[in-house]
Amino acid sequence: MDFKQVLTNRKSIKSFSNQEIPEHKIYSLLEAARLAPSWGNNQCWRILIVKDKETKEKVAATIDSRNSAKDAIFEAPVLLIVCAVPDSSAEIDGKEYYLVDSGIVMEHMVLAASNEGLGSCWIGEFDELKIKTLLRIPGEFRVVALSAIGYSDESPDTEKRLPINEWTFRDQWGRYLQ
Ligand SMILES: Cc1cc2nc3c(=O)[nH]c(=O)nc-3n(C[C@H](O)[C@H](O)[C@H](O)COP(=O)(O)O)c2cc1C
Repeated sequence: MDFKQVLTNRKSIKSFSNQEIPEHKIYSLLEAARLAPSWGNNQCWRILIVKDKETKEKVAATIDSRNSAKDAIFEAPVLLIVCAVPDSSAEIDGKEYYLVDSGIVMEHMVLAASNEGLGSCWIGEFDELKIKTLLRIPGEFRVVALSAIGYSDESPDTEKRLPINEWTFRDQWGRYLQ
């Protein structure tokens, strides 16, 4: 698919059909993850793929009901969970790069999903401790991001974005791009 199309097709999908995802499509997401850049090329992430219905339901049950992505977790055939060990990345001036590494790896998978005609929804608001306990994720790992992945059952409108010239400066801070 054309790259611009991959980007524009990606939207947060919160309603999924129960159609299974062929294994080769899941592998193309993982291959996209494998190619992600990371601090020192340390590849600090671990990815948990949850397909088991009961497990997905248990994960969804830990999510606050005000989170509109809650149901997507068990509706979607696949739930991706990105975890990382902070010590395997770097902290510079208080900036923790395991979060950046993990964000990049999830975004690679989300864009690969778009390229495969699959919908996704990042989920950043969750109870980390409950998820770690439920999935027996070792203590040194942080759970950074979740994403439901599957065939979309909705066509949401594109969410508004600010125009480029409202957040881009040229040559000098405060001199907006015209
Ligand atoms: C780091 C991150 C965390 C997010 N967490 C949630 C979440 O917990 N629940 C939810 O419904 N959407 C979540 N989203 C989706 C955003 O709300 C969504 O990306 C944004 O509204 C723009 O819409 P779009 O993805 O359709 O372009 C998250 C997105 C990101 C990047």
